[in-house]
Amino acid sequence: MNVPFLDLGAQHRPIREEILAGWAEVLDATRFVGSIHVAAFEQEFAKAHEAKHCVAVSSGTDALYIALRALDVGPGDRVVLPTNTFIATAEAVSMTGASPLLVDCDPVTKNIDVEQATAAMRQPGVCGVIGVHLYGQPADMEPLLAAVSDDQWVLEDAAQAHLAEYKGRKVGTLSNAAAFSFYPGKNLGGPGEAGAIVTNDDELARAARVLRDHGQTQKYHSETVGLNGRMSELVGSTLGIKLPLLAGWTAHRRRVADRYRDLLSEEPLITLPTEPEWARSVYHLFVVHVRFRDQVLQKLTEAGIGAGLHYPTPIHLQQAYAFLGHGPGDFPVAEQSADTLLSLPMYAELTDDQLEFVAGTLIAIVAELDAPS
Ligand SMILES: Cc1ncc(COP(=O)(O)O)c(C=O)c1O
Repeated sequence: MNVPFLDLGAQHRPIREEILAGWAEVLDATRFVGSIHVAAFEQEFAKAHEAKHCVAVSSGTDALYIALRALDVGPGDRVVLPTNTFIATAEAVSMTGASPLLVDCDPVTKNIDVEQATAAMRQPGVCGVIGVHLYGQPADMEPLLAAVSDDQWVLEDAAQAHLAEYKGRKVGTLSNAAAFSFYPGKNLGGPGEAGAIVTNDDELARAARVLRDHGQTQKYHSETVGLNGRMSELVGSTLGIKLPLLAGWTAHRRRVADRYRDLLSEEPLITLPTEPEWARSVYHLFVVHVRFRDQVLQKLTEAGIGAGLHYPTPIHLQQAYAFLGHGPGDFPVAEQSADTLLSLPMYAELTDDQLEFVAGTLIAIVAELDAPS
């Protein structure tokens, strides 16, 4: 049996005709950028996250960058963020001219260590903190929000966390703003790059709309240096078709996670992800921890099972961020996690046969590698 890491074909087959009809409509209307489909999607996505505004943009990275710019982040500022995240979280900060101030992750949730983060927020030059809802699991937002002073802010990196909930509330409006990604493999993915900023702040939403369109308030009148960060209509149309299906897909992802737990929890050599009682994860990824991870990954691949690493190198050990002056040992929890983490196939269309095959194969591999030779 083959179990791919991700099977977008299976997701798209039932809605293929609808998506193609949407593309034909865009083609015939000859309006390709930021028009009616994008505007309609913005409204629906804001509603889905119980937010006042959604500003559709060209990628999750641009969503983070534009949100930071709308928050007035720039050269000389420092922004607290976890070292255990995708590089884009740090890149967006660097793109503004500000500097990332890295902190470790929590040993259980692997999300930002809120004690370290709140201590870092007292350092000079720090203007805010980015809570990353990594793997689809909300970061612990309350301590971060409690730690902000009057001129500081909290931003959510919700690239992996569409419809996730923290203490009964949807992510996206827990803080000043949130950035989402609609990269094809995300829980809600478009046919190309895309992202969005969600916020309840009228002024922040206005600033984001201006920034994404070359800083223009009207055609050829720019009030600030912006960028071309607009969403395409082809993407907007497809996201509009997929959004009503997202809650159902999310419920399936949670069932897949439950099934993995049933199948794997008896095996002490496999550490399963923990979901705190205040979090409702949307399982963008199902990340376990195992010894001999690289060998496990290789053997899973040989058995026809797609697995991934999210992420093998924390930000502080990336060459791109060598200038921050960190080295091995600086963030031991993230480093230990990076050495043992393993993402198993996770999507709504996984069948019970596939899940049993993945779990059975994984258990056999870890047991074999653990046996004395
Ligand atoms: C945690 C996180 N932040 C930001 C991004 C950036 O999103 P995009 O790839 O749409 O630019 C991603 C996407 O991979 C992500 O996983």
